[in-house]
Amino acid sequence: MAHLVPALLLLVAASAPPAPADGIAVWRRPVAGAKAAPVIVAWSSLKLEERTSVDVQLGGERSFRGVSLKTILGAAAQRTPAEDTALLHFKNGMQVPVPLDDAMLARLDLFVARAVKDSTGKLAERFDNVVHERSPWMEQRAITFGTNKLVAKDPFHPALGATTTKFTPWAHVDTLTGIELVNGAAWRRTLRISEDPRVLQGLGAFEQRCQFCHGVRGAGASFGWDFVKPIPVHTWRDAESLLYHVKFRKLTGAEQGLLMPPQPDATIDEVRALWDWMKAVSANELRPYLP
Ligand code: HEC
Repeated sequence: MAHLVPALLLLVAASAPPAPADGIAVWRRPVAGAKAAPVIVAWSSLKLEERTSVDVQLGGERSFRGVSLKTILGAAAQRTPAEDTALLHFKNGMQVPVPLDDAMLARLDLFVARAVKDSTGKLAERFDNVVHERSPWMEQRAITFGTNKLVAKDPFHPALGATTTKFTPWAHVDTLTGIELVNGAAWRRTLRISEDPRVLQGLGAFEQRCQFCHGVRGAGASFGWDFVKPIPVHTWRDAESLLYHVKFRKLTGAEQGLLMPPQPDATIDEVRALWDWMKAVSANELRPYLP
């Protein structure tokens, strides 16, 4: 598999502008061939506040110093009304969409921490690694942080719908590196490569369960593998094996240091549809982004 690595790195590099060290890059998704023109919101231009909050990754309540996502978006100030969705880009390749209406931003109440108070009450500009369900005899890969940490107080995300799963993207995100502004409907249409109801059901499952970590054809998240390039997933896993992988991932994941969380409530019907969508998207180019 070693020969695949350069191709994967290229895909990652193409998906977002480089992450600046001294701020957060904010850019508008370019239309057809144009280049993204990121504006850097410098940390030094933001007034940091202190906040005591629960953090879904750490479990308990901590005191942080940082800035709310809303403040960063306000400072970027280039958003048009059609840009109703922010795609949050993370250091590990995750990409999480956030609808930008006031009620949703208030409900999510996302906070970008630059420092956290340690047990002695001192603010430290570093964040401890997070390890989910460490097995006592094996070392598991940890989530590590750079110059900030996204703090979500609630597992809620609007794309999860009414699923009973305990899965939430917020448990897996690390350091916010960029914010991409899109028109949500136009952005979602790029993946709608067929009107077949089965394929559409599969796209729905992808949006609910996979999009935060996986992309297709170099578009979208790049924490886990691309579902199409270089080798389409549907060619090496049938729907049953894919279901097993999604439901029970963690059982072998710990030994291998793998980071994909299991989603035990996934059903065969959903995953069959997801497989149909993966196959369709392997046979068809994505649709252009037309806001
Ligand atoms: C929180 C992030 C995350 C989510 C959500 C996620 N994955 Fe993954 N996935 C990963 C990572 C990371 C890998 C790479 C291997 C590893 O570390 O586990 C991976 C690997 C894979 C692989 C390749 C490995 C193999 O054994 O075939 C497939 C296929 C896959 N995921 C399918 C899915 C599907 C389908 C969904 C949605 C139903 C999904 N993943 C949701 C993170 C995620």
